Order: sequence, then structure tokens, then C-alpha cells
Amino acid sequence: MSLDLIAVRQQVEQIARDAGALVLERFHQPLNIEFKHRHDVVTDADKASEALIVAALMDAYPTHHLVGEEGGGQGAPADEAEYFWYIDPIDGTANYASGIPTFTVSIGLGDRDDNALVGVVYQPTADELFSAAKGHGATLNGQPIHVRHTPDINDAMLGIGSPFGAKAAHYSEVATGVRGVRGFGSAALHLAWVASGRLDGFFESGISRWDVWGGMCVVEEAGGVVTDYRGERSPKMLNGEAFLACTPGIHAELRRRLAPLSP
Ligand code: IPD
Ligand code: CA
Repeated sequence: MSLDLIAVRQQVEQIARDAGALVLERFHQPLNIEFKHRHDVVTDADKASEALIVAALMDAYPTHHLVGEEGGGQGAPADEAEYFWYIDPIDGTANYASGIPTFTVSIGLGDRDDNALVGVVYQPTADELFSAAKGHGATLNGQPIHVRHTPDINDAMLGIGSPFGAKAAHYSEVATGVRGVRGFGSAALHLAWVASGRLDGFFESGISRWDVWGGMCVVEEAGGVVTDYRGERSPKMLNGEAFLACTPGIHAELRRRLAPLSP
């Protein structure tokens, strides 16, 4: 059964806003923080946000399969489902737990062929909602957005992530000569900002589908390119193992610099 992507997008925008409101309310209260391992934290708010999103999606799409950072696995079994949801209830939990306001709720929809169909990234502290549906463009709070035109990497502002602080050192060569390098601690936010022309590119390795699927659709619909470090749309990119998103003008140079770092 094919989906009305415009209607789905509208529905997911509301779900992301509701989850964002929950997360924001708890941001100013004492948090219960647990450690999944030394550098990976989870709070009650992550769990409550995921529960809200899962309940809403299951109600609307019981035959889809859900993949969530704090659990997932609901809905139809993965080998039977036609559609897949990738849910990050708080992307940037380390920021959230430290009182840093750059965190997002990220929700993406894909099909069996790994097409990104719908993506929503919501930053509740800024009340900015980035969204897209395949073939229907990308928006920020309802206004169309597009990647920035940057033909020369020396003029580029890049966003980087370093999962659990492990891989920061080898990123410095990639960023040689660029205008600026920024790390805001939420892969989904970096992607939303590439889509809206605040950043020219973003790359990170060792992340997960729930980190990137919401933002991936937004970048693609805003005219950006999303590949792995070798310039391919491969499982490495789709699974977040080596993920590059940028404005088209700097893609060739970025993948040339990143290819030697490909896992
Ligand atoms: C993390 C953020 C961060 C990235 C990490 C992710 P989480 O997600 O996206 O920017 O560097 O690799 O794990 O754990 O806060 O949802
Ligand atoms: Ca995440």
C-alpha cells in the first residue's frame, strides 16, 4: 500500500513537536541519568520521548517496523514490513544531560529499498522544526529551505561529530583550510543545518540509523548530497558507519579527503 507522504509528514511533524515539548519541560528539572556505557548516557526523558513517539506511530502505522535508540522493535517484524521508522527520541543526550540546549527529536521513514521518504528534526529549545517528504521539498517551520551554494571547500563551514570522543584527531586533516569547523553534539541538528544552509557539510563515522535518517531526507530534499566517505549510497552510509552530507559543490573534495578514513 503506498503512503500519502504529505499527510505522513504532517502527522510526524506533530509527533515530533509533542515529543519535543515533553523533552523541553523536563530539561529544566532534575534528571535521572543512567550510563549505557562510560560515554553513552540515557535519561528518563529519552525513554518517555521514545514511548510517546512509539505509541503515536504504532497507533497510526501498526504494520510498519520501528527502530528506536532506546528500544524499538515494535510493529511488524523487520522481514515482513514494507516501511521502517528510525526514531531518536533525543539526539544529543550528552548535551541534554549537561544543560546544553542543542539537542533534537529526530524521526525518519524509509522503505525496504532504503529510500528516505519522510524526515523530521525538531529542536525544541529554538522551536525550529525541519521536515521533508520525498519529492515535496524541505522546510523550516513551514518555509522552504535549500542547501547553501558553496563551490569551494575553503569557504565551507563544516559540522562534525565525534562519537563518544573517540575519533576527533583524524578529522583535523579533512578540515584543513576550511572557513570553520563546528560540533554541536547532535548529528540530526547538523543535518538540519546543512539542509537550511547554515552549514555546508557534515560527516561522522560510527553512528546509527536513528541518528541520521530524519535529517537525511531533509538534506536530500533541500538539494544536498548524502553518501558514504567514498561517495556511494552504501550500507556504510545508511547505517551511519561513514556518513557524509553536504552541498553538492564540495562533495567531490570532501569525499576525496574522507575516503582514506572510510571504515
Ligand atoms: C549522538 C549525537 C552526537 C554524535 C554521537 C551520537 P545521542 O546521539 O548525535 O552528535 O556525535 O555519535 O551518538 O546518543 O545523543 O542520541
Ligand atoms: Ca542519537
